Parts: sequence; structure tokens; C-alpha cells
Amino acid sequence: MANLATILKICVLTLVVCVVQVAGSGCPALECWFVQEKPGRGGGIGTPMSQEKSIMYIRTDPDSEVPDSQRRTPADISPSRVYYVIDLAASFCSSALHPPAGSVTKPQCEINPFIPHASMVKWAAALTESAQSPAYLQADWFSVAAQGLDGELTLSNVMRAPTGSKEPNVILSVSSKTAVVRSRLGERVHLDCGFWVNPSSPLFGTGFSVEWRYQYRGEGRLVLAYDGKSDRFAETTETGAELDIASLYETGNATLILEEAQVRHSGTYICTVYLPHLLAQVAVDLEIVEPPSLSIFPSPLPLSLPGQVVSVQCEASGFNPLSLDLSWEFVGADGKVRSLGQGSVTGHRQASDGTFSQTTRLELDSSKLGLGRGGEVRCVAEHAGGTRRASVTLNVIGISAPSIEDSMAMVAVALVLYGLIKVLFWMCSSSDTSDTDSKDKKEK
Ligand SMILES: *[C@@H]1O[C@H](CO)[C@@H](O)[C@H](O)[C@H]1NC(C)=O
Repeated sequence: MANLATILKICVLTLVVCVVQVAGSGCPALECWFVQEKPGRGGGIGTPMSQEKSIMYIRTDPDSEVPDSQRRTPADISPSRVYYVIDLAASFCSSALHPPAGSVTKPQCEINPFIPHASMVKWAAALTESAQSPAYLQADWFSVAAQGLDGELTLSNVMRAPTGSKEPNVILSVSSKTAVVRSRLGERVHLDCGFWVNPSSPLFGTGFSVEWRYQYRGEGRLVLAYDGKSDRFAETTETGAELDIASLYETGNATLILEEAQVRHSGTYICTVYLPHLLAQVAVDLEIVEPPSLSIFPSPLPLSLPGQVVSVQCEASGFNPLSLDLSWEFVGADGKVRSLGQGSVTGHRQASDGTFSQTTRLELDSSKLGLGRGGEVRCVAEHAGGTRRASVTLNVIGISAPSIEDSMAMVAVALVLYGLIKVLFWMCSSSDTSDTDSKDKKEK
């Protein structure tokens, strides 16, 4: 029996070791859609596209072989769409692109044929002023766009394969670790973007340019453009946006820094890196999410009599994005929470800083609503940035048909108040007559 247990243990251990080795032995294959224009139909917008399944076997060392154990091309992939990619930077090997086996969601990946061309934009034009290695450009070029799970990685690679070969080499890789960035107002924001150039390529060290564009609902503008050839920034109207030039050169870190997040910054930012005749780009979404501030009027609430309707308003202001759920709650003396509904919610208004405000008004009829002697009236605002609450105390005097004691107490209170006011009024008017004559006359 002891022997059997030992054998079992060894078996399990061996299995674990094997699994770890396979997982650790580099880069799993990546399935992609190969998308291109249908041949023979000309070009332009509306050209029909064809979409075929493809697979990339990845090597990070050009001298190694893809182990046979990993070459399991699915039957529905044509042999002409099998690629043996050399990826020195291991950009395709990120775990974000390789979900655990059996997971339902898959990373997105698309390969397109790519045609190298001189760039037209001003800040990249200088890259191709001296005609660069045109022979080198005569090859099969591809661009691959891949998106990892959970927005952990957005990747755009340009690859080159000697004409007719199926062994493309990654030449330029641009990626972002933050597909979506959320920020509150006033915060410093980093939109991640980094690039890598294959050091074995003749394009390595021949210069680069970086561009950040902003896009929102069809509108676009240049945020920032750095011309590496002349070491200059293009002129833009944008302020408070910068790159760290030192880390741009040291590590290819093209992260955009926005000094102070504002509502107008919400949108999509596209990071483009230009090499001579090549470019690759990734997009980063910035969401400015600011929860509302709440204020209640009137606060405190006046004492109310049973059956008396008290109107109370709650204003939510300074929030973004627009979507907001306002409602009212009542917390009785017993601590129980009841919903009082939405109240009547007004349309929204927009402040000059782009944030929104909205108001809800509640008619509180303590007897109809059965609010007893009162309690806490709460305004609740549910927003993407968090839930906010504000409250006031509601005091109902003399509940359930005022008792004689209550009535008498109220009369007594009223009498005392009346007396007090009378006395105060008399004191004020007698002391005021001397120095505020004119005002006095008007009142008379
Ligand atoms: C890139 O630069 C930004 C801003 O300077 C920095 O916060 C970030 O950590 C850098 N990323 C890497 C990978 O070095």
C-alpha cells in the first residue's frame, strides 16, 4: 500500500512538472483572423473584405525551433495561413493574450497585409527624406492588432517576412497596458504607450516620431506630436499634456501625461509611433468619472404638523458622466429604511467645467406616507463614480390625531414664542430708532 502511494505521488509530481515546463517553455501559438480586401475588386471604401482563420507559432529566439508538441494546427486553418513568427521582444507572449484553456472569452487578434509608405504628417515626414533601404521594404509586410482580456494589453505589431516565406519577424511593436483609464477630476493621468524596434532591423536607430491624437464622437485633434528627427514638438493648442523624453529614448516609453484631468479630456487617445515607412498605433480610452456632491434644501427641515406637506429638494452637482439615479429614502426611529421613490427629477444642467447637475424634489406628506414622528430623510445618488447620500431630520409634532397634551404643549410653545418675539421686536425697534432714522421712516 505504501508503495502504491509513493508511485501515485511520483506520478502527480511528474505531471505537475511537465505542465509547468510546457507552460514555461515560451510562447503558446496565437490564433488570429487574417483579414484582407477580396482580391480583384479594386480598392477604396466599401471594398469587400475576406476573413480567414490563421495561426501564428511564436519563437522568441530565431535559432530555436517551435517544438512539434506545440504544432497543433486546427483542421479549419488553411496551411497558407500558418505563420512562424520571430518575436524577439516576446510581445505576443503576454499572458493577457493567452487565457487559461477552456475559457469562454478569447483575446481578439487580427492580421492585415501592410504596405510600407512614407508618412505624410509633418512630424514624421523627415524620417523618409533620405530614401531608406528600399530593397529592405520589398518583402511581405503584415500588421497585427491584438487585444488581451480585461483590457490588460493592446498590441499593434508590424512584421516583415522575406517575400513568399511564412516566417515574419516583428520589426515594430507598439503596446499599451491600459486599454481603459479611469480618472477623477483634477488628477494627474498617465495613458500608457510603449514601443520597441527590432535591433536587427536596418530601421533601428534611423529615427522615430510619436503622435498622440484625441478622438471623441467623430471629432479629432492633435494632442501632441514629437519629431524625433529634429527633436522637436509640433505646435498644438493643447496645454498640460507631455511626454517624458528621457524615458522615451531609454525604454521607448511614450506614455502621455495629462497634468490635470478635466471633463473635456474624456475620449479615445491614439498613440502612433512612426518609423521610416512604417507605423503602428494603439488606442487608449480615458473616462473621467466624478461622483456628485449632494446638498439638501431646506436644511434643517421646519417642524411639521401631521398632514402638512413639506417640500424638500436635493441637488446633485459636479458629476460626470451624465448618467445618475436619484432617489429618496426614509429611516424611521426604529432604524428601518424605506424607499420614498424618485421624487420629481429635473433635467440636467451642465456647468462651464463640463460637469453636470440635477435636482430632485420630494413632497413629504408625513401622514400619508406614514412617517410616524419623523426620522431621517435621505437623498441617494447612484453614479458610476460611487453612491453618495445626504440627509436631513424630519420632526413631526403630535402624531396620530394630536393628543390633548400635545395640543396644549403646542399652544404653550406658541404663546411663549409669541411673547419672546414681541419682546425682541420691542427691544430692537427701540434701540434702532436713534441711528437708523431713515429706515424707520420708510417702515412707517
Ligand atoms: C513610463 O513613463 C510614465 C511617466 O513618466 C511612468 O509613470 C511609467 O511608469 C513608465 N512606464 C514604464 C514601463 O517604465
